[in-house]
Amino acid sequence: MEIKNICCIGAGYVGGPTMAVIAQKCPDINVTVVDINEKRISAWNHENVNNIPIYEPGLSDIVAEARGRNLFFSTDVDGAIDKAEMIFISVNTPTKTYGIGKGMAADLKWIELCARQIACIAKDDKIIIEKSTLPVRTAAALKDILYNTGNGVKYQILSNPEFLAEGTAVQDLLNPDRVLIGGDIDTEEGLEAVKALCNVYARWVPEKRILTTNVWSSELSKLTANAFLAQRVSSINAMSELCEKTGADVNEVAKALGMDSRIGSKFLKSSVGFGGSCFQKDILNLVYIAKSFGLDEVADYWEQVIIMNDHQKRRFADNIIKTLFNTVSGKKIAVLGWSFKKDTNDTRESAAIYVADHLLNEEAEIVVYDPKVEKDQVYSDLDYLNTRSKEANRKNLKVSNDPYDACKDAHAIAILTEWEEFVEYDWEKIYENMLKPAFVFDGRNLLDVKEMLRIGFVLKSIGKPQ
Ligand code: NAD
Ligand code: UGA
Repeated sequence: MEIKNICCIGAGYVGGPTMAVIAQKCPDINVTVVDINEKRISAWNHENVNNIPIYEPGLSDIVAEARGRNLFFSTDVDGAIDKAEMIFISVNTPTKTYGIGKGMAADLKWIELCARQIACIAKDDKIIIEKSTLPVRTAAALKDILYNTGNGVKYQILSNPEFLAEGTAVQDLLNPDRVLIGGDIDTEEGLEAVKALCNVYARWVPEKRILTTNVWSSELSKLTANAFLAQRVSSINAMSELCEKTGADVNEVAKALGMDSRIGSKFLKSSVGFGGSCFQKDILNLVYIAKSFGLDEVADYWEQVIIMNDHQKRRFADNIIKTLFNTVSGKKIAVLGWSFKKDTNDTRESAAIYVADHLLNEEAEIVVYDPKVEKDQVYSDLDYLNTRSKEANRKNLKVSNDPYDACKDAHAIAILTEWEEFVEYDWEKIYENMLKPAFVFDGRNLLDVKEMLRIGFVLKSIGKPQ
């Protein structure tokens, strides 16, 4: 089957970069990314390619190359569905905030809307691709909707989960460890659809890295991969607390573990806790699925990863209060970093939000600096928690666009994102302008301990003797 037109529903952190790379690598295929969010689409179409809505190293160059040639961003969802032989669904699948499964299950409302819209518009056979992260067996629900509300056209539903990490999205897409494609491989039509998608990726991904499975294995592999990754972070963070009590150094422990080739060295960086839009939601979803099959031990096992992460964020904030002589009331605390990791402007579930919220409850006066996050985003993250009035958030937390101003006259600095520029700062100058003792809480083990102590700071790092 020859693919000439691809449509992607959802122009977010996954849809945008993924389709930009497909368009770059397949100049003969028209790729249209559609979204109901007009503001987002107009930002993707901004004449200055540096103003596209998502910051990812290398992304603006790829968009500049392909946009207007064979990459299009549009709000005409119906038109793009109609034209495409292959439709990626890349909409959000957040944790449900209401009803059955509240706080645990994935909310599939947007996925269902896409299926109904495709069924209503499609006039010829289509390959539908689950790009969003979905509970195992969602493809069966999609099939039900498509066939019961459609007008006789045939569909093949494939699962093709995305494994990119934010901040390295372009590199991950250009050089993926693997591309996973799940399909109905027991039928000829299913196999043909899988092959059509393999052919798209095969333009730049070596064949041995394109893995095909049945649909359910593919859907479940995505949730499992995120659970395993998050589990590693919670495991090293659990050890960080023990290191602080025993004189061990978590970096040294991580290095010693990582040299065991069975364990591997990646994803063993102790931190203030993992954030991001997916780890927590995907594990909660996994826990919910396990519980719904009556697998309580499986559910409890994975839930512990989240419990440990919440504990890590909380104990970091508590340590600031305890160290500042048991009160932060009226004290200025500079927060360096608001995004959930470096090299992204995404703040979803960032540990910084929870640490700041906790310190605000203790009447701290916070000043935030982040090189890529806008002021409005910081306030909207805090307002979303609904802990206090919007006015109180704006009164007690300020956002600065100058890190030296943010740190001036502060009692303490908390480093919550590992932005590389933080290392380069003139820490002597920062020290001179702070109140003494000058406390730094390094939630990312980013700063040189010896050098910071030499300058005179009282430095509290994660997982190091306190
Ligand atoms: P996002 O919120 O950035 O983007 C989703 C977009 O879909 C939004 O712009 C929204 O307006 C749009 N949308 C929702 N319903 C729509 C509809 N009916 N028609 C048209 N547009 C619609 O989300 P994201 O971060 O790109 O994540 C998307 C999916 O990919 C999620 O399931 C997520 O778990 C998964 N995922 C995300 C990442 C990541 O790094 N962010 C990585 C791998 C997988
Ligand atoms: C993660 C996975 O790495 C991707 O494979 C997956 O596609 C994606 O989730 C998803 O499904 O959304 P992402 O959340 O973008 O990607 O970023 P990560 O690099 O995984 O970092 C997640 C969080 O863990 C960050 O807050 C990061 O600072 C933290 N982390 C990561 C640590 O604290 N220590 C580590 O060693 C690694």
